Amino acid sequence: MEVIIRPDADAVAATAMDFVGRLYARKADPVVGLATGKTPLKLYALMRASGLDFSRTRFFNLDELVGLGAADPKSFRRFLRDNLLDGLGAPDGNIRLLDGSLQDLEAEAEAYEAALKAAGGIDLQVLGLGRNGHIGFNEPGSSLGSRTRPKTLDRDTLADYGEGTPRFSITMGIGTILEARSLLMLATGEAKAEAVRRIAEGPLTSETPGSALQLHPRARLIVDEAAAARLARGDYWRWVWQNKWRVGQ
Ligand code: F6R
Repeated sequence: MEVIIRPDADAVAATAMDFVGRLYARKADPVVGLATGKTPLKLYALMRASGLDFSRTRFFNLDELVGLGAADPKSFRRFLRDNLLDGLGAPDGNIRLLDGSLQDLEAEAEAYEAALKAAGGIDLQVLGLGRNGHIGFNEPGSSLGSRTRPKTLDRDTLADYGEGTPRFSITMGIGTILEARSLLMLATGEAKAEAVRRIAEGPLTSETPGSALQLHPRARLIVDEAAAARLARGDYWRWVWQNKWRVGQ
C-alpha cells in the first residue's frame, strides 16, 4: 500500500482528484465505486466542478443501510445523489446503487455481484475508513474473503453514524472490494489516526478489515497530517512523495 501524507483535508481531496483525473485521461468509460460518509465530500465537490465527462462512467457504491427508501435522508443512495451524482451527467442506467429497502437482501447481494461482473469489475474504488478499521460496512471480524452480503453494524459505528441509524446494512465484501483494479482510500482527522496506523503498519487481520489493503497491488491511502500522526514510518512516506516524480510515476 502506498501512503500519501498531505497537509490537510483540502490537499487530500486535491490529490485524490488528481488520481481520478489520471484515470479519465486513460479511460473514458471507467467503472467507479463510491463510498458514502463525510470523508469523500471534498473529493466529490471537486469531481462535480472538474468538467470531466462522466456520461460514460458506470457507478457502483460500497454499502447501504437496511430498510430505508431511496428518498430517505439517511439513505446512502440519497447521500450520493445529493453530494455527487445529481448534476454529474451520468445517465440513470449507468448507476447501480445497493438497495437496502428490499425484502430479499441475499438476492440483492447476488444481483449486485452479478452486475459488478457484467460491468467488467471496478477500475477505481473510493474508500473511507471507520475508526474501528472497517471498510464498507465490513466490521472487525469480517472474513477477508467476504462477498456482498447483509451485515450487522458494530455499536461504535452506530454511535458514529448518529441517532436513528438502522442496525443493519448491505455491503460489498472485503473480497469484492479487493477485486477492484485500484483502491483510493481517504482518511482525515485525528480520530482516524489509530485506524490508519493499524491498517498501514499493523498485522493483516480480519480484526482490522482495512488491513486487507495490504494485499492489494494498487492501493493508495491518502491521509492528512492529523490522520498520519501515529505512523511510525511517516517520514519515509513524506520522502517517497517528495521524490516520486524523479522516477516518473
Ligand atoms: C461508507 C462506508 C464507511 C465509511 C466510514 C468512514 O460508504 O463505506 O466505511 O467510509 O464509516 O465514514 P466517514 O467518512 O463519515 O468518517
